[in-house]
Amino acid sequence: MTRDTLIAPSILSADFARLGEEVRAIDAAGCDWVHVDVMDGHFVPNISIGPGVVQAIRPHTKKPLDVHLMIAPVDPYIEAFANAGSDIITVHVEAGPHLDRSLQLIRGLGKKAGVSIAPQTPESALAYVLDRLDLILVMTVNPGFGGQAFIPAMLAKIERVRAMIGSRQIHLQVDGGVTPDNAGKCTAAGADVLVAGSAAFKGGKYAENIAALRAAAAKQA
Ligand code: DX5
Ligand code: ZN
Repeated sequence: MTRDTLIAPSILSADFARLGEEVRAIDAAGCDWVHVDVMDGHFVPNISIGPGVVQAIRPHTKKPLDVHLMIAPVDPYIEAFANAGSDIITVHVEAGPHLDRSLQLIRGLGKKAGVSIAPQTPESALAYVLDRLDLILVMTVNPGFGGQAFIPAMLAKIERVRAMIGSRQIHLQVDGGVTPDNAGKCTAAGADVLVAGSAAFKGGKYAENIAALRAAAAKQA
């Protein structure tokens, strides 16, 4: 089945000293969404961006801010990220005991709700929250850092998640080690949103990099 693939560059790979400019540059280069990786040094072994930074970049693009929360606990911070101007807020299954509550909180604030599953988590963890979801994020690296290698075993998981989604209007996003070499495999397996940090920002040729990812995604191989 053909579906348009959305490209969401992760600003984790941007120059943090020039973040507003970098967001404008990936917007102008043709990205679909701007992916924001939020890390707390507790749920994942790295610290990145907080709600103040999301608020600061918000005026620099009209494209959706796709905020990936790798933090635990997550519920106490959801409202701050919503108020900062996030459009999509994604939480990890592994980050808290009451996923259903977190998802209700996100939608209650008028935002799109996403759930991410780390490489070890089976897709069955999503079975009873599907109707509360706008997006499922299958992590293809262990969350915490950009620039890691794609885990090929996740392709089977992407296929299974696509089957679970069925006819629901839920995006299937892939994040971690995505390059033009594996983008087509991800879309063939059923992904419709590709996050790319290193592959989008490398060499400063953002438009070329995004176009290469888009072309590879369209080949579905
Ligand atoms: C990892 C992050 C990813 C990462 C992607 O925890 O969620 O978004 O920054 O970077 P690359 O594409 O370099 O793996
Ligand atoms: Zn991410």
